[in-house]
Formats: sequence, C-alpha cells, structure tokens
Amino acid sequence: MRPTLTEGGERYLALLQRCLTRELFLDQDEPDLDPLVRAEGRDWPSTAETMVGRARLEHVGACARTVIEDDVPGDFAECGIWRGGVVALLRATLAAYGDLTRDVWGADSFDGLPVPDPERYPADADYDWSGVAALKVTIDSVRANLDRYGLLDERVHLLPGWFEDTLPSAPIERLSLLRVDGDLYQSTMDVLSALEPKVSDGGFVIIDDYNGWPPCRQAVDEYRAATGITAPLEPVDWVAVSWRKGA
Ligand SMILES: C[S@@+](CC[C@H](N)C(=O)[O-])C[C@H]1O[C@@H](n2cnc3c(N)ncnc32)[C@H](O)[C@@H]1O
Repeated sequence: MRPTLTEGGERYLALLQRCLTRELFLDQDEPDLDPLVRAEGRDWPSTAETMVGRARLEHVGACARTVIEDDVPGDFAECGIWRGGVVALLRATLAAYGDLTRDVWGADSFDGLPVPDPERYPADADYDWSGVAALKVTIDSVRANLDRYGLLDERVHLLPGWFEDTLPSAPIERLSLLRVDGDLYQSTMDVLSALEPKVSDGGFVIIDDYNGWPPCRQAVDEYRAATGITAPLEPVDWVAVSWRKGA
C-alpha cells in the first residue's frame, strides 16, 4: 500500500517548518528581520535552525515525501547542515510517515567553510569565507537543536569533518535524497563525487547555492557534463535548483 500522511502528520510538518525558519515567532525571536527576506531565505537568522527560506524548506520536505510515497530506496542526506534545521525536517518526515527503514545523514565541518585551495580549485580563489564566525556551528549545538524537537536519535548520523575526508568512506549505502549546501566549488564537487552515484533512480539531488554562488554552479555544471546527467535542472526558488535522477 502506498504510504500516506495523516492530517495530523501534515499539520506537524507544516508547524515544524514554520518553527525551523522562525516565521512563526519572527516578531518575538527575530524582530530585526524583514519577514519577506526571511521567507525567501536571503538572510542569516540569529536563532532559526535553518537559513533556507520557506520555499526551499517546503521543497526538501516535498522531495522527501515523494520518495517515501514512491518507494524510492535510500536514506536522506544533507551536506552543509549549519544549525541542522533541514536534518530535523527530514527526520520528522520519516516519523510522520512511520518510516522505519531510512536514516538521515548530516555532514559538516561544524567549523564553517574551508580555506579555498585555488591551486586545486581555481573557481574558489575569491571566496575565502573560512573566517566567517556565523557559519561555525559546533556539533554539540546541532545535537542540542535536534534534541529540542525530539528529533535526535539513532536514525540521525552526523559526520563531522571536511567533506573530502568524511564522505568517500561514509557508511552510506544508498540515498533517495541528497541536498548539497556547501557553497564552494570544492565542497560541491566533493559531495557530488562521493554521494551522487549512490542516489537511486527516482531520487532527488538538490543544490542550494546554484544561482547564488558561481563556484557552486560551475561545480554542478561540470559534474553533470562529466557524468552525462541530462535530467533537467528545475528551479526551486531564486537560488536553489534540483533534479530527479533518471528523469
Ligand atoms: C550555508 S551553510 C548551510 C545551511 C544549511 N543547509 C541550512 O539549512 O541552514 C554551509 C555549511 O556548509 C559547511 N561546509 C561548507 N563546505 C564544507 C566542507 N568542504 N566540508 C564540510 N563542511 C562544509 C559549513 O560548515 C556550513 O555549515
């Protein structure tokens, strides 16, 4: 039987999304933020567990629901999780469906972006964001964020370290959803090279920064060309795109 969501499940996920972006409490928690800017995810909120906006959060939730309902095999992964809000939504989606077969993986340095390596990755030369303190979120604070929502359990796996070190040997067998949010050429290419081949047919690859960070876009375009991916890039919002494998 095709899995479905109860009305209670729908309401839980909708409420959770508005909590994770802080749209629900913007006037109390983030009074300095412009509601439209927050909704579009163009800012760096001070308390919200995700910097992505409503459309991108709804999109990753919808992709997770589609692969569950279509029985596309594989776990969920986000690479570049910052405070962990997307990981929380993915874990909650499994709970809402009563899915006991999939796990959620979250990879991050938990120390911000790497120092660019222009010799290996010329596209990153002008993008040294390694000192940006707001991007350095410790693994303990991500765990605390997940725990606050009752979403930290043995089905959530956090992979601390640089993608190039952690992902090639990560014990991930198969994915049905891969969300890439590492900004740089190197980070994007490291994720795609290690994990895109593990995405099942019918699974989704989501690129957060495609229209915002030229190095990310270059990595995606080069990876798709080199591996012969012709599935169309679909826009998610003003910055993100995705494709469905095999589409
Ligand atoms: C823009 S933030 C991610 C936002 C997050 N997805 C959200 O929902 O708010 C980018 C994250 O990628 C991580 N990151 C970027 N490049 C990385 C790399 N090569 N290895 C590990 N982590 C990386 C940073 O530490 C940071 O947490």
